[in-house]
Amino acid sequence: MNIILGTAKGLAYLHEGLEPKVVHRDVKASNILLDQHWNPKVSDFGLAKLLCSERSYVTTRVMGTFGYVAPEYASSGMLNEKSDIYSFGVLIMEIISGKAPVDYTRPPGEVNLVDWLKTMVGDRKSEEVVDPRMPMKPSPKAFKRALLVAIRCVDPDARKRPKMGHVIHMLEMDDLLAREECKLDRDSSASHSSGGYNPREEGSLSRHDHRTRWY
Ligand SMILES: Nc1ncnc2c1ncn2[C@@H]1O[C@H](COP(=O)(O)OP(=O)(O)OP(=O)(O)O)[C@@H](O)[C@H]1O
Ligand SMILES: [Mg+2]
Repeated sequence: MNIILGTAKGLAYLHEGLEPKVVHRDVKASNILLDQHWNPKVSDFGLAKLLCSERSYVTTRVMGTFGYVAPEYASSGMLNEKSDIYSFGVLIMEIISGKAPVDYTRPPGEVNLVDWLKTMVGDRKSEEVVDPRMPMKPSPKAFKRALLVAIRCVDPDARKRPKMGHVIHMLEMDDLLAREECKLDRDSSASHSSGGYNPREEGSLSRHDHRTRWY
């Protein structure tokens, strides 16, 4: 989750913190380097393009890595930051599942990671997509949230993809909610033992409302 969030922050800086903005054009696992503390660094700007705020896209020769390139960019050469967001969605899927974006050795329905993952989530089998080799599994909520963010990022309609700032908000809110939940659990067990006030009994925290509003 730290790698996903850190990468999102790096891309948000390129897309929203600079003028002209920088479209990386080759967001993928091997271009995200990790330091000794597993902090991610977005690297390899060899294909990066500058995009002025007056322009909504640039038309350019299609470059990037197979399996990560947004469909509209692949078909028309029209590039903007939404193309990076698509690649970022594929990257999240790769991190969660441990599978390459395209692999012809997999069974027919699983060759394309994006299609397979969308089907699995649609069939309510999202737990089954987690990489079994992951030593420390994220909480089910954090993992489902990341998966939903990934699915939004790979929306075939580029206009519907969230901006990187919104992606960070969604991912960080989850972190915050998880911590809040832990705190509530602690408070709740403390108040049960002392017979004190338990906020959960009054339903005072509309955590669920907050979550569902995003989707
Ligand atoms: N500074 C670095 N420190 C450690 N590993 C690196 C560094 N730069 C690149 N790598 C790793 O070396 C390998 C080759 O990187 P390279 O950028 O040449 O190719 P790539 O990322 O696989 O493909 P592409 O050329 O499309 O970016 C990758 O696994 C990459 O993660
Ligand atoms: Mg590289």
